[in-house]
Amino acid sequence: MKIHGQPHRAIEADHERRIARIVDQTVLPHEVAWRELETLEDAAEAIVAMRVRGAPLIGATAAFGMFFALREDASDAAMQHARAALHATRPTAVNLRWALDRVILAVASFAPENRAEAAWSEALAICEEDVRTNHAIGRHALELFRSLQAKKADPSAPLNIMTHCNAGWIACVDWGTAISPIYQAHDAGMKVHVWVSETRPRGQGASLTAWELREHGVPHTLIVDNNAGHLIQRGLVDLVIVGADRVTAQGDVANKIGTYLKALAAKEHDVPFYVAIPLSTIDWTMTDGVRDIPIEQRSAREVTHIPGLNAQGHREEVLIAPAGTPARNDGFDVTPARFVSALVTEHGAVEASAKALAGLRARV
Ligand code: MRU
Repeated sequence: MKIHGQPHRAIEADHERRIARIVDQTVLPHEVAWRELETLEDAAEAIVAMRVRGAPLIGATAAFGMFFALREDASDAAMQHARAALHATRPTAVNLRWALDRVILAVASFAPENRAEAAWSEALAICEEDVRTNHAIGRHALELFRSLQAKKADPSAPLNIMTHCNAGWIACVDWGTAISPIYQAHDAGMKVHVWVSETRPRGQGASLTAWELREHGVPHTLIVDNNAGHLIQRGLVDLVIVGADRVTAQGDVANKIGTYLKALAAKEHDVPFYVAIPLSTIDWTMTDGVRDIPIEQRSAREVTHIPGLNAQGHREEVLIAPAGTPARNDGFDVTPARFVSALVTEHGAVEASAKALAGLRARV
């Protein structure tokens, strides 16, 4: 997608120097700062500090991290050390484990001197696949958008889409998952309007989704997270679409904290609630998501403080609670499958159920 009209990907490979470049998401939307990753430590730090975030991009960054590690030392021990270091960066997004295992599988049969090159190729392949996959997810979800548009009392009115967190191109390599169909709808001339929930505490909706949509010219309105139920109840939302960090084999969905509340409101008011995911986000080893998906616990400071730009244009963080207030900060929640109208994958939309997912797995 584009930044200031120029095409970019959220992670770009420099073939000559064998490094990767990322957009540092911690300073968006106020600054577009590119950062070079060239060591295992750089890749791990970028994930931990959330310079990169979003399940698919975490996976792609970790794949480059494996290459950086193997370029230094391609022994089995070093490979396992790198895997463990990268795997420990963030606990919820399963694409991380998926990408690490994929690189290891791709390089394991090579002699150590050839492993780094094989890892580089695999990291590139993961990135290219991500772009194709997300484009396909967008195509399939666009069909759902079109049928909802046709059912509107006034089909010439914009389709009102609500999303949460950031599942756009900056959370992936390109296109995004939940935002991919929005870009494709807009590019096809369909009238869409997006309700962007700010996504406290990290504000991925306000700082990333609103930024992406603005760069692409897609009409949108920023809301506080607590406004979602009210808008759904008033009939101002035609559908909700979000991404996911992990989906279990029975279709339970872990996504950014606040997703579950939107799903509850959508169910109550018969508004479709879609989850856009690549198959790499499905954890086939897990069934009960509420019980088993590890939920990242984040710093209390993200709750008690809010960062932003001050009147002088300098980055600042302000305290919004009495000093020392105890705070809890769950990074994700789990929406049980029964609240999900469909999972939209690169292979089409499927019911969020063990049977439908097993069928899809057998088919692809
Ligand atoms: O904590 P984050 O910002 O990494 O959480 C990201 C999300 O919850 C996204 O919505 C999810 O990964 C889908 S990304 C296409």
